[in-house]
Amino acid sequence: MSFRIPEETKRAIIEAARIEEVVGEFVSLKKRGANYLGLCPFHQEKTPSFIVSPAKGIFKCFGCGKGGDSVSFIMEHEHFEYVEALRYLARKYNIEIQEKELTPEQIERQSDRESLYHVSQYAAEYFVRNLWESNEGREVGLSYFRERRFTDAIIKQFQLGYCSDSWDGFTQEALKNGYDRKYLVQSGLTIEKEESGKLFDRFRGRVIFPIHSLSGRVLGFGGRILVNDKSKAKYVNSPESDIYHKSNVLYAIPFAKREIVAQDMAYMVEGYADVISMHQAGITNVVASSGTSLTEEQIKLISHFTKNLTLLYDGDPAGIKASLRGIDMVLAKDMNVRVVLLPDGQDPDDFARAHTTEDILAYLKANAVDFITFKTRLLLAEVGGDPIRRAELIENILTSISVVPDEIKRAVYLQECSRLLNIGEADLHHRLNRIFQGKFQKQVDKEGVVNQPLVSPSVLPEEERRESEAKDYERTLERELLRLLVNYGKENTTQPYQDAEGNPMEQVLSVCAFLVMELQQDELTLSEPLYQRLFSIFADHLSRQTIPEAKDLLLSEDPEIHNLVADLASARFEVSPVWQAKNIYVRTVHNDRKKLDAAVLQTLLNFKLNRVKGMIGEVDGRIKEAETSGEENLLELLAKKTDLDKMKIEISRLLRRVIA
Ligand code: CTP
Ligand code: MN
Repeated sequence: MSFRIPEETKRAIIEAARIEEVVGEFVSLKKRGANYLGLCPFHQEKTPSFIVSPAKGIFKCFGCGKGGDSVSFIMEHEHFEYVEALRYLARKYNIEIQEKELTPEQIERQSDRESLYHVSQYAAEYFVRNLWESNEGREVGLSYFRERRFTDAIIKQFQLGYCSDSWDGFTQEALKNGYDRKYLVQSGLTIEKEESGKLFDRFRGRVIFPIHSLSGRVLGFGGRILVNDKSKAKYVNSPESDIYHKSNVLYAIPFAKREIVAQDMAYMVEGYADVISMHQAGITNVVASSGTSLTEEQIKLISHFTKNLTLLYDGDPAGIKASLRGIDMVLAKDMNVRVVLLPDGQDPDDFARAHTTEDILAYLKANAVDFITFKTRLLLAEVGGDPIRRAELIENILTSISVVPDEIKRAVYLQECSRLLNIGEADLHHRLNRIFQGKFQKQVDKEGVVNQPLVSPSVLPEEERRESEAKDYERTLERELLRLLVNYGKENTTQPYQDAEGNPMEQVLSVCAFLVMELQQDELTLSEPLYQRLFSIFADHLSRQTIPEAKDLLLSEDPEIHNLVADLASARFEVSPVWQAKNIYVRTVHNDRKKLDAAVLQTLLNFKLNRVKGMIGEVDGRIKEAETSGEENLLELLAKKTDLDKMKIEISRLLRRVIA
């Protein structure tokens, strides 16, 4: 998993992984000329707009825009990390991965983690065996699960187990099998008494719920007590370790991920038993936060699969109020949060066992309300007629709304609130803007400067909105430059230049050399950091007299670069709507040299023109300031502006002369 895969092996995997075969395993493809066509697996569609090109080794959906190579397809479809995807493909094509040598420190850290994985895996298997095969396991553990009406199949699927009620039965067995005391203790499976150094089993006398990673490895355990004993914790969990971080895991994620994607929605419950009963009822897009309030990491994990989250609560008001606090963070991540309250204080486990699947689904459907509405209703019921508390409530709800990044969603929430609170929408809008201003001011106070507008474009003044559109345009131009580099970097192009006397001449050189040199001469960099990183790779190669192609760049260790390149390579066919809107020439495939020449030059000139315009704007601002404050040299600024204006005119003139 974390060993480095050597370059040659990667290349072999990528070359072997024929895109039509890799995709064909998940999508039914029909041949259409040189390509294949199918229904896109990444969005709902009735007519196929998903194209696979064996010649280029890429896929592209013209519906949702997703595109890439075999590796990115597997990453996207199976929700694998980059290396996991490579391993998957290696297995599929029987390519052996020779692990690369690591430094001694890397090996140690690596093997520490690996050892923790191993001992955890061993323990999970031991507890399962103990549950099914030992007398105590069957009589105590298994009968407990059966009493809770878990089926054998579900007990096996979730790898539930039992740890016998003896001091150190598990620990001794593990030591006997060669597992190191160090890792038994580090994983928390074994507790070492400080004074005596005596070892004993953390989970003794408890049924075991293993906690799995996204790809199904055992990371840690929850152990439940069997008798009601108020003096002991109902659940004991593994302590934090190199492989187990409570706040990063979602219980049951490997069993739920597929259905979460299929339904484009996840249910979130609190407990282990809640998840298991829901899965047993056939509702498998369910995970648990394991009793903590949601963390940012958990939300990040879920958001790989869906933006729609439904929280199931057991209707205990104290618990609900406690969990409300974490939710603003979820809203801020642009997730759609809905809430279902279960009847009569039942938790999802009780509820699922008492109803049929159809009834459960019908109830969930009928009773899900969006989070803002839920919160408003809940607080409203509490506040009653008290005007001061009512004012606080409004502030509280609006603060939640203010973190929602999507403007349209904010508007919908405001509408709903206006109805529930019986306050005019315009009034609420006004107050919301005040909250925005307050945040803005806080940031200014704190940092002295404002790096990023906290507020989305709709509430920005006209001027700032134009700025954010300009930013989008700049990104589009930068992306287009990279698209040309990735797809046509090696091709020759004929481009104009001026000789020492300023005479217009022509030169033939590679697209890569032309673009890199042009930008370097003017000391221009790309404003988007990831874009600049990719651009630097081209510049580095060029300084070593090589030009990388998409297939070389796809071997990059850096998953962000990999994904960007895969995306750009698949965009070989793409016509960007922004370009059409701006009426700028762009063609789908530049198989015609003349058209490629024109596209390269136009993109470059537009990029430069845009930069020059930006600089002019900046100088204008400084001139205005200098006129009032007199701090800067006005003449110098005016001279600078004249230079920039000249450049602008020159670039515009060149642009008009490009023949498409
Ligand atoms: N939990 C925990 N440690 C505790 C109590 C709870 O880690 N001492 C976590 C567990 O993941 C548990 C979840 O919080 O599943 C919810 O706790 P609770 O509602 O008390 O338990 P239930 O899930 O209802 O457990 P059961 O149905 O087994 O009684
Ligand atoms: Mn319960």
